[in-house]
Order: sequence, then structure tokens, then C-alpha cells
Amino acid sequence: MSHFFYQDKPIETPALILNEQKMKQNLKRVMGVQEKNNVKVRPHFKTHKSISIAKLQLTMGACGITVATVTEGELLLENGIDDILVAFPLTDSNKIKRLFKWTKIARVIFTVDSMEQSELMMNEAKKWGLNPEVWIKVNSGLNRCGVEPNNEVLELAKFIKKENVLNLTGIYTHAGHSYAAKTKEEIRQIAKEEALSVLNSVDLCEKEGISLPNRSVGSTPTFEAAATYSGITEVRPGNAVFFDAIQVGLGVAKADEVALTVLSTVVSRKSNRLIIDAGSKALTTEKGAHGNEVVKGYGRSLVDGEFFITRVSEEHGIIDSTEINNIQLNEKLQIIPNHACPVVNLYDFYYVQRENGQIERWLVDGRGKSQ
Ligand SMILES: Cc1ncc(COP(=O)(O)O)c(C=O)c1O
Repeated sequence: MSHFFYQDKPIETPALILNEQKMKQNLKRVMGVQEKNNVKVRPHFKTHKSISIAKLQLTMGACGITVATVTEGELLLENGIDDILVAFPLTDSNKIKRLFKWTKIARVIFTVDSMEQSELMMNEAKKWGLNPEVWIKVNSGLNRCGVEPNNEVLELAKFIKKENVLNLTGIYTHAGHSYAAKTKEEIRQIAKEEALSVLNSVDLCEKEGISLPNRSVGSTPTFEAAATYSGITEVRPGNAVFFDAIQVGLGVAKADEVALTVLSTVVSRKSNRLIIDAGSKALTTEKGAHGNEVVKGYGRSLVDGEFFITRVSEEHGIIDSTEINNIQLNEKLQIIPNHACPVVNLYDFYYVQRENGQIERWLVDGRGKSQ
């Protein structure tokens, strides 16, 4: 296994290694839906939490960025990114106020998923004399946030229009339950339901004279299929910038397309197991969200079938196998994490293998920005 150097010194492990060429290839695939399906792309910041990568996504054609938290939003706005969707229902008046401040110089789209929460937003907006832009969140089957498609969307849309405080311009959903799909056909079916939950609700609202010009969908397993439905205007993949072992297990990406790995060191060798310095604080204990069953263990080798991490404690990763005695003490192993998004949030830096062969260090700027 190759060694990695940064400024002529070996990189200390565990460390995040990001392959720029593979990341750009993944971004080209993501941006491909713009041309193929004439939809915009608004990637989710939660995966990479990097200002440099967000700016690269915008340079490659993204229309804006999606965030999950107010502190992520502030970080992007402070760094000149001026079109963000806050894909989380805000209820804290202080948080709402902090983002309202930016609406004078940037496009900040807020999201609502009940009359009660819309009312909170309206009360804050009235205090500040603002008409903030909002999109309705619709539940397409994940059963997390969101009003139900059709009648509940219409009721909420009518309520918002009647009050005439919030500027309702769109609707969005996230089919995260696609992560529990067992087959590609099941993923395609979920993508269809995702798109139709939005499009049918839009039709109903339009019949009542309410237009919702922005119709946004997307998870990494579903965005390519959901983008093909006429009337969808935007997709929001997050994980697709890197991919990970879960996406490989789902058949969404191949192992050699995964751009992000964790570099670790073999620290102990026993007859039937290897111990590496990447445990749950380097790889997480994630086996996949929403009932996903496609991964074994807590991370896997870059090379298909070579090994996977069978057990983790905080600083130790254990590979229980008798077929790995060719791997030496102190050898470096590159691990594909099960779920890239929470793994990134454990590190201060990416070590980026640039296309020119150099290794650079990029900050995980949004690390810990969870509020
Ligand atoms: C609202 C919303 N949109 C988009 C995404 C991106 O999903 P993925 O990482 O599967 O592409 C997420 C991820 O959790 C999300 O919660």
C-alpha cells in the first residue's frame, strides 16, 4: 500500500484522504443531469462541509448550496456563497433572526412543514418587516419531516398565501428511505414516488391558483432517476460528491469511484486478526441510515473483497481474518468508510491528492457546525 506524504513528512493516521480527480469525476456525473434533464443542481453541504468544495460545485454549474443547519448557512454566506436552501424546519426565533439578517444581500430559502412552524416564521418575519422566501417540505415516504403530498400541501400553501407574509416559491422532498432499497428497481420506484409527491402536489396547488415554480428532489441513490420526471426543476445530491461503501453496496457507484478514504496504520498483528488505528472515532459505527443492510462491518478495503473492519472500539479497528497475514506491521491501509458524511465531521482536514500529484491540506470548515 502506498505511503502518503504531506510537506515531505508521512501523513499521521488516521487521516482523511480525498482524491481530487475522482471527486471531479463524481461532480461531472452529478452535473450531467443539468444537460440531460434540464434541472438545476443544489448539492448538500452536509457531506463535505468544505468551502473550497462548495465553490468548486458552484464553478462546475451548481445553482446554489443546500444546508442542514444555521451555522452551516452562516459559514457559506460569510464566504460569499449567496444562494442557499436551509433544508430544515427552523423553530428557534434566534436562529431564524440570524439568517433573516442575510436576506437583504443573499437568497436564503427557508423551509416549512406545518402551519404551526410557518406561523413562527411569520411572526419573526413581521417583527423585522420581511417577506422571506419559503418552500414547503413534503413527505415522500421517509416519514421524517414534511406534510403529506396533495391535500396537506394545498392546505399549507393556502394558509401561507392567505397570511401574505412568507414568499412561497417552491416545494421540496428528500427520499432518504431509498437507502433501505434492496434492488435498483426499488430505487427507481422510490425516485418515481419522490418526484410524483412533488409534481402531483404542484398540480393540485396550480388548480387553486397557487404556483410553486421551484420543485426540488434528491438523495444520492434517487436524484438521477427523479430528475427525469418532467416538471422537476432541481436536485440536491449530497453524498455523490464522494460516494462511500453504502453507495457501492446499493450499486449506485463502483468502489474505484469513491473519492474519500480513511488512511490508517496496522498497529498490531495476531494470527487471526489485524488491528488498525481507525476505530469508531475515525470511521463511526454507521452501518447506513434508514435500515440499510448493504454493508458488512464498519468500513472496507479499497480492493474488493480484500478485507472489511469487523469490529471497532474508539481508537481500534479490528479485521478478524486469517487471510491477511501478508499485511505487515505499520503498513498503511486505505479504508472506504461506510458513510462518508459523518466521517468527514470527525476530522479537521482533508489531505487532498491534487490532480498534479501534490498533496494539499484543506480545512473541513463546517466541522461541528451542527446548530
Ligand atoms: C433534505 C435533504 N436533501 C438532500 C440530502 C442529500 O442526500 P444524499 O446525501 O443521499 O445525496 C439530504 C441528506 O440527508 C437531506 O436531508
